[in-house]
Amino acid sequence: NSQLLGSRGSLIVLEGLDRSGKTSQSAKLVSYLKSEGISVESWRFPDRSTSVGQMISAYLANETQLDDRTIHLLFSANRWEKRSLMESKLRNGTSLVIDRYSYSGVAFSAAKGLDTEWCKAPEVGLIAPDLVIFLDVSPERAAERGGYGTERYEHLEFQRKVAQHYANLQDASWKVIDGCLPVEDVENQIRELALNCLAKCRAGKPLTNLWL
Ligand code: TMP
Repeated sequence: NSQLLGSRGSLIVLEGLDRSGKTSQSAKLVSYLKSEGISVESWRFPDRSTSVGQMISAYLANETQLDDRTIHLLFSANRWEKRSLMESKLRNGTSLVIDRYSYSGVAFSAAKGLDTEWCKAPEVGLIAPDLVIFLDVSPERAAERGGYGTERYEHLEFQRKVAQHYANLQDASWKVIDGCLPVEDVENQIRELALNCLAKCRAGKPLTNLWL
């Protein structure tokens, strides 16, 4: 039993454009891991349940206006307010599957024209993911899937810029999956990557901080 041995959980992040399938794939992965008896929780950022998260939510719904740097720092603060809970869950052997993380934070703000290094700075010291699964769907294909709502960033032109910035952020923890494959194929590839990652963390891979 992993908890008895004191081994830690994994931090697994799903990233991708809006409508890339992250949310449904996160849910599928978490229910699969639970069915395998693995201690795991499903998280997402922004976490709209906190007071910072409510400010973000109002901004995304176009109910409020905020300066680009201000909203960037709120997204970052929303991760910082969860950092210690995240660390204790991981150290206690619970894995976390997170829908969006710092990469969204940087890619979306940089797409507005903010400097990438400036965008990364407030993320320094957050826990580094053990695995980032990037669901690769072109902005055009994502837009064709429909279901862009009325939120602030759900426009093709903007998503194109976000895609360019995501491409520059890839590091050793990233695995890119073709998000246009059949849903079951995507699901199976994600399962394999996740199981591999869980095994490495159980075997003693250390927790580290951003940026790698
Ligand atoms: P959601 O649709 O996954 O809830 O995310 C809401 C929007 O917020 C989405 O368009 C991506 C964007 N976003 C940022 O701009 N910065 C961030 O740090 C995060 C987590 C999301």
